[in-house]
Order: sequence, then C-alpha cells, then structure tokens
Amino acid sequence: MTPTVLRDRAFEPARPAVSRRLLLGASASAAALMPTAALRPARAATTPAGNGVPQSAAIFDITVNKQLRPLAIDPRTTLLDALREHLGLTGAKKGCDHGQCGACTVLIDGKRVLSCLTLAIAVRGAVTTIEGLADPGGELHPMQQAFIDQDAFQCGYCTPGQILSAVACVNEGHAGSDGEIREHMSGNLCRCAAYPHIVAAINQAKAGMRS
Ligand code: FES
Ligand code: FES
Repeated sequence: MTPTVLRDRAFEPARPAVSRRLLLGASASAAALMPTAALRPARAATTPAGNGVPQSAAIFDITVNKQLRPLAIDPRTTLLDALREHLGLTGAKKGCDHGQCGACTVLIDGKRVLSCLTLAIAVRGAVTTIEGLADPGGELHPMQQAFIDQDAFQCGYCTPGQILSAVACVNEGHAGSDGEIREHMSGNLCRCAAYPHIVAAINQAKAGMRS
C-alpha cells in the first residue's frame, strides 16, 4: 500500500485516511499511529547533539524530481514542510495547510497528493514537484506552456498545484469535456477565479500530452 495515496478520488488530490490533525495532535508519535508497513525504513539519529541534527530526528532518503535527497527531520514533518523548509523546493505552496485548497499538490508516482496531509517519512514513491516538471533541457511541460498561453493565472499562488493536478487529470483520462475537467479539478481552488482559463489551458495541453 502506498500510504500517500490512501484515497483514490480522482477528482481531487488524494488525502490520507488518517487525518493530519490526528497524526500530529495525538500524544503518541506519528510513527506509532501509522501501520508498520506504511512507514519507510528510517534510522533514529544517533549523532551527538550540537551538530544541527536533533536527537529525535529520523534519517531517511526521499526521491524528489529524480534525485535522491537525504533528510534528517522530525518524523512528524509533512511532505510539504520537508520540501519547502528542508529541501528548498518552494514551488508547492502552503495555502490552508488543512487539505482544503490544493495549493500543496505534488505528484507521487504520477498520482496527485496533498503534501500538507502527507508525512514525508511515509512517502514510498517518486515525488514530482513543479520544479521537476519541465524537460531537463529546459523545455516547459505542455501544461506549463498552456497555462502561459491561456493566461491561466493571476497571482500565481495556486498555479503550481493547479498545473500538477491538471497533468494528473489528463493522465487519468478525466479531461474529456469542460464539465469533466471542472469536476476533476474541483480540489484545487483559485482565489483569483482563473477557472475558465485553467479549463482552456487543460484543453490545449491534453492534445500535446497525448502525442
Ligand atoms: S495547503 Fe494543502 S490543501 Fe491547502
Ligand atoms: S491565480 Fe491567484 S489564487 Fe489562483
């Protein structure tokens, strides 16, 4: 089981069945509340205090944008905080931090996931953030280009999550009509109300993604 994709609702990013509030608010550790099989092997930090690594840190590797990245973090750290605060990848945005807005959407093995509701230590697959979506040679992903072409953002705060969710929406086969796109993108909110342009961008990009 992939713990970060516990709910298979294709119309919005997957959220863990165990709420983050429960995980982070309970007195027991997050690791103790997760099924044993769901947690990646992690080593407790044994390094002496004073070297910047807390004694309670979990040390593990995570694959982000095709690179293996080492982490030594509190095991309760969300994937969103791990990306932003520990790996310097600030593309995924913290909007609500409660699984409500989709701004933090990333892909894990191609499936959209709310990184604010996902524990970094529980991630099994390969994470793709907006920083890793473009071709390594510099060519934008068709969805990124389509968002530019269709003027599908204003402030841009929701845009990384919108683009990654849109990529998954097309790959899931849920971009057959404007109505279907709206339904399957409904987990990503845009406070600038760029929705008609986002739908137009997805319609533009889906042809390029199939070719
Ligand atoms: S920040 Fe994750 S859903 Fe809003
Ligand atoms: S472009 Fe501003 S929130 Fe979506």
